[in-house]
Amino acid sequence: MVVAVAVFAATVLHAAILCSAGMTSSFVRSPQKSVDMPLDSDVFKAPPGYNAPQQVHITQGDHVGEAVIVSWVTVEEPGSSIVQYWAENTSHKHKAEGKFNKYKFYNYTSGYIHHCTIRKLQHDTKYYYEVGVGSSARTFWFTTPPKVGPDAPYTFGVIGDLGQTYDSNITLTHYEKNPNKGQTVLYVGDLSYADNYPFHDNVRWDTWARFVERSVAYQPWIWTAGNHEIDFVPEIGETKPFKPYTNRYRVPYKASNSTAPFWYSVKRASAYIIVLSSYSAYGKYTPQYQWLEDELPKVNRSETPWLIVLMHSPWYNSNTYHYMEGETMRVMYEPWFVKYKVDVVFAGHVHAYERSERVSNIAYNIINGLCSPVSDQSAPVYITIGDGGNIEGLANNLTEPQPKYSAYREASFGHATFSIKNRTHSYYSWHRNQDGYAVEADSLWFFNRFWHQIDDSTTAA
Ligand SMILES: *[C@@H]1O[C@H](CO)[C@@H](O)[C@H](O)[C@H]1NC(C)=O
Ligand SMILES: *[C@@H]1O[C@H](CO)[C@@H](O)[C@H](O)[C@H]1NC(C)=O
Ligand SMILES: *[C@@H]1O[C@H](CO)[C@@H](O)[C@H](O)[C@H]1NC(C)=O
Ligand SMILES: *[C@@H]1O[C@H](CO)[C@@H](O)[C@H](O)[C@H]1NC(C)=O
Ligand SMILES: *[C@@H]1O[C@H](CO)[C@@H](O)[C@H](O)[C@H]1NC(C)=O
Ligand SMILES: *[C@@H]1O[C@H](CO)[C@@H](O)[C@H](O)[C@H]1NC(C)=O
Ligand SMILES: *[C@@H]1O[C@H](CO)[C@@H](O)[C@H](O)[C@H]1NC(C)=O
Ligand SMILES: [Fe+2]
Repeated sequence: MVVAVAVFAATVLHAAILCSAGMTSSFVRSPQKSVDMPLDSDVFKAPPGYNAPQQVHITQGDHVGEAVIVSWVTVEEPGSSIVQYWAENTSHKHKAEGKFNKYKFYNYTSGYIHHCTIRKLQHDTKYYYEVGVGSSARTFWFTTPPKVGPDAPYTFGVIGDLGQTYDSNITLTHYEKNPNKGQTVLYVGDLSYADNYPFHDNVRWDTWARFVERSVAYQPWIWTAGNHEIDFVPEIGETKPFKPYTNRYRVPYKASNSTAPFWYSVKRASAYIIVLSSYSAYGKYTPQYQWLEDELPKVNRSETPWLIVLMHSPWYNSNTYHYMEGETMRVMYEPWFVKYKVDVVFAGHVHAYERSERVSNIAYNIINGLCSPVSDQSAPVYITIGDGGNIEGLANNLTEPQPKYSAYREASFGHATFSIKNRTHSYYSWHRNQDGYAVEADSLWFFNRFWHQIDDSTTAA
């Protein structure tokens, strides 16, 4: 059954390459709504032991990949904020001390949320780390990235809009079992979907963090804020946007001279990753605008050939859901993306999958009428991958006809991997949840825009 489906999809894809327009996949899936896993599910179980650390997660802790932020929650009492860590096969345990915080949201009170940055790590090294004390201590591990450099191969996973349904669990399982072996997740926003519960029941922030611990305690997830992170509820007195998100998830924004945790950059191996915020001001003169204007010229493609941008709301989206929501930010920043030859933009928000050809729409100046996307080999490929499987279900109402720039679109849950081989080539593949772990429903070779600006489109112009 699974094999038959894969062969069928491959046949359709092959046919699409031969005709002139992009492809709307005819893959048929059941349209059932996604259901959140109940609170007593195995994936939400707290670890045993008094005050045992839970919800352990890591992310990059500096600009170049020599630091890691370790975060976790204790429930009974603050406990220790110390992380002990040691390189594989070494006996000396290093110690770093973090801090904890706590927040209230309406009538919810969080546990003790610890954040500790461990620094001066060696590249390409497996480290073990331990949090908690005594018999409740827990040990995890991660591998640091290679030193930043132009030909350092590296594989990123790409996940968005995950939530905590049975489908979310399937997406995460497929990512873990994907033979492409993602080393770091580029997460394009909308984490827990706790805000779908009455009073934004923040218990669902805790369950989400326990659910994803099995991946994010062992490899960093690079965070992007989505609309479900805003948690703005004046009706119940909650007027500080992003309160749960910023208390729980830390990012190294100061290392890229950003002034807020919603936009920042990191270098990792041969990639330069810029994270933007669809839900922070981005117009001219705003802090995000000024930061991005200063940031893009700093990217040195001889050092980091691959320029990747993450944001939540997509600019090129031919789904009727969230149609044109990304348009105002596109108008502000798209000329820069073309000028600086961004390789790929990953976005979420729309609960489906879509990949564009390289297009731009930057000629319009209000009076010249030039407002259609055109093929542009200096432009990024835009990928919408808000298909993690959250409670809101699939966005399965596509605009017709499919626009020319849209290379592939399908309303299915899944995840992708972006596997950088060297400064010229990166292999990208999207995996739908209904297929076997190794099946690629959509894939292509990316040619780097700086080093190898050869047409890599997959549909004839
Ligand atoms: C650590 O030890 C294991 C088992 O002896 C070995 O397979 C591995 O290569 C060692 N790693 C390093 C970095 O020396
Ligand atoms: C918070 O308030 C809601 C509505 O009054 C109630 O249903 C819920 O049980 C309360 N939760 C806590 C932790 O008090
Ligand atoms: C979630 O997926 C894991 C790994 O496949 C499995 O062990 C677990 O039972 C699943 N839990 C639920 C509630 O689906
Ligand atoms: C941040 O700004 C400082 C001071 O201007 C500068 O030395 C540093 O290189 C900048 N860092 C980055 C990553 O741009
Ligand atoms: C860019 O990176 C290369 C390789 O690391 C380095 O040799 C060069 O000096 C850098 N250029 C600038 C302007 O920093
Ligand atoms: C699909 O979207 C169009 C445009 O927004 C709308 O008119 C139509 O009713 C939608 N169809 C379904 C089945 O939701
Ligand atoms: C870069 O990787 C691609 C794909 O693996 C390969 O075909 C190409 O020869 C590599 N380039 C260099 C210079 O090694
Ligand atoms: Fe969203």
